[in-house]
Amino acid sequence: MEIRPARMGDIPAMAELINYHAERGRMLHRSRAYLYERVRNFWVCQMDSWIVGCCALEPVWTDLGELKSLAVQEDLRGQGIGRALIEGCLEAGRRIDIKRVFCLTREAAFFENFGFARLERNKLPHKVWSDCVNCPVKDNCDEIALLLDL
Ligand SMILES: CC(C)(COP(=O)(O)OP(=O)(O)OC[C@H]1O[C@@H](n2cnc3c(N)ncnc32)[C@H](O)[C@@H]1OP(=O)(O)O)[C@@H](O)C(=O)NCCC(=O)NCCS
Repeated sequence: MEIRPARMGDIPAMAELINYHAERGRMLHRSRAYLYERVRNFWVCQMDSWIVGCCALEPVWTDLGELKSLAVQEDLRGQGIGRALIEGCLEAGRRIDIKRVFCLTREAAFFENFGFARLERNKLPHKVWSDCVNCPVKDNCDEIALLLDL
């Protein structure tokens, strides 16, 4: 298993992985166009020649970053891939002086394992809500905000 920065050629597999979970209501859909534009924010997990996980750390504001689009192939969950991807992203964040990382998720317990603590969503900068504009459940959002000090 190799954890490495994503490359352009990984995008179709990443889109498939993310949208598989999105169709089951676990995360937001991402288009290939969205992923190509942000490829430098992503880390992937490669097994043999397959992409089996991905995660992004997106710089947001001053020292703040957002962890997003974390997805692991269904039949490989529970084997440490999610953890390795988060660690890759956090290390990349430290290298560019990101000091705080937040995420919006329905899997709060998973992120609490890594030291993320819940916070009120309105404590996050306004800019964070750009993703919400096109979300079908924006008026009835059940995602929890969590923050980690690096
Ligand atoms: C959530 C997800 C990314 C976890 O990835 P994973 O590779 O299965 O997780 P790992 O095996 O690295 O688990 C790391 C730790 O978290 C724990 N964990 C895993 N899933 C968990 C969950 N849903 N809730 C609480 N803890 C969880 C594991 O037990 C493990 O703990 P340990 O190290 O003390 O043994 C994966 O299940 C997934 O792709 N889910 C669908 C998409 C999704 O919900 N993404 C997150 C929303 S942004």
